[in-house]
Amino acid sequence: MAKLWAGRTDGATDQIADDFNSSIRVDQRMYKEDITGSIAHAKMLKKQNIIPVEAADHIISGLEGILADMEEGRLLPDPASEDIHMFVEQVLTERIGDEGKMLHTARSRNDQVTLDTRLYLRGQSEVIREKILDLIEVLNEGAERYKDVILPGYTHMQRAQPIVFGHHLLAYVMMLLRDVGRLQDCESRMNESPIGACALAGTTYDTDRDYEAALLGFDSVSQNSLDSVSDRDYCLELLSALSILMMHLSRFSEELILWSSWEFGFVELSDAYTTGSSIMPQKKNPDMAELIRGKTGRVYGDLMGLLTTMKGIPLAYNKDMQEDKEPVFDAVDTVKICLDVLTPMVDQMTVHEDRMAEAARRGFINATDVADYLVKKGMPFRQAYKISGSLVALCIQKDLVLERLPLEEYRQFSDLFEEDLYEAIDLRHAVNTRISKGGTGIASVEAQIDWVKEQLVNLRGNR
Ligand code: ARG
Repeated sequence: MAKLWAGRTDGATDQIADDFNSSIRVDQRMYKEDITGSIAHAKMLKKQNIIPVEAADHIISGLEGILADMEEGRLLPDPASEDIHMFVEQVLTERIGDEGKMLHTARSRNDQVTLDTRLYLRGQSEVIREKILDLIEVLNEGAERYKDVILPGYTHMQRAQPIVFGHHLLAYVMMLLRDVGRLQDCESRMNESPIGACALAGTTYDTDRDYEAALLGFDSVSQNSLDSVSDRDYCLELLSALSILMMHLSRFSEELILWSSWEFGFVELSDAYTTGSSIMPQKKNPDMAELIRGKTGRVYGDLMGLLTTMKGIPLAYNKDMQEDKEPVFDAVDTVKICLDVLTPMVDQMTVHEDRMAEAARRGFINATDVADYLVKKGMPFRQAYKISGSLVALCIQKDLVLERLPLEEYRQFSDLFEEDLYEAIDLRHAVNTRISKGGTGIASVEAQIDWVKEQLVNLRGNR
């Protein structure tokens, strides 16, 4: 195919080199952004009298026709084209003749490609934010449903203190809300227009960058032309935010996997999100959760790959930078599918409250409450802690739980122990007296749920 850039050379390259050089397989998904960007460019060229009004109008209607045809599947990207930008320009010139060749005045593919990428990723980040909000909503509903279901909270994978399941789900909600915030931050820096920087140095034409940027919904225009075509930190920032998000999804998936094991039995995933084994008929494997955990590595890889690609590139554009899109698109696709699977999986899982209660009864998770009981009666905490530890050891020896150890035994250790001890170490009581702000007590859990609902209203309104 004849090269639009055949200037100094005749553009005759080797077939394998052509394939190697081509990025259309990856960047064709930006066709809409490319065409919309070109329409805005033509409007600016027209307004500034840089090209004749008539030619501009033909270019604009030609581009609108190409967009409609591509949307309808009547026009397919040509895999032999070098990239989506070349493809669109070539089709335009085929359709409207020589006037099509005026479109590329006062721009370069260098500012065009980063414009398209910013536009595309801006939209994708918004889509991902909405999907995170859907997951948050499902988790918050779960928190409401299970706000008084007691289970052990763990540290070091050892049963530590009683909490309610709603509180546990809310912990993930808070992480996910920060993920939404990170994406918003990232969008605010991404939403700066690079178009008009041209190849690297700006242009001799009397362009209006602000006008073109406003047509495309940008908040501002970039300040330095060299920076505009050289930087890819908006891709890296998005990849970083997505990596952190995936880390959260992966930890949650890991817990779902653990909880759905026989050993825990806290939850059962619905059949729609599990698979069987080809040889062990009893198996119900949490494949989807495992895949989310596994795909996290892939998103981290996308981030590390692009960081590495960018680290030694001198200013301004170098072809290395064509390698930016594949990882960032892969991360976007991966995150979206993970959220699409995780949200209904959580919504449809069965929670076994009895198994959680059983686990909470074993493991001395109210030992801290024994110590706190003594402290409230005047004993220094360290001393109380020691006594509580000795009582646990005694219970293990007698194969009893703290609630079953007779008062006389308690009083061997301290005469501060009285009948009201048993209420203080009752698990429900232990949970509900955790009244500090952000604690697992019912009032705090309810306050968290309401706060999250408010956040959801604000964030949903913020589309
Ligand atoms: N396909 C290229 C990319 O994705 C477009 C920019 C090419 N610019 C150039 N001077 N070769 O990076």
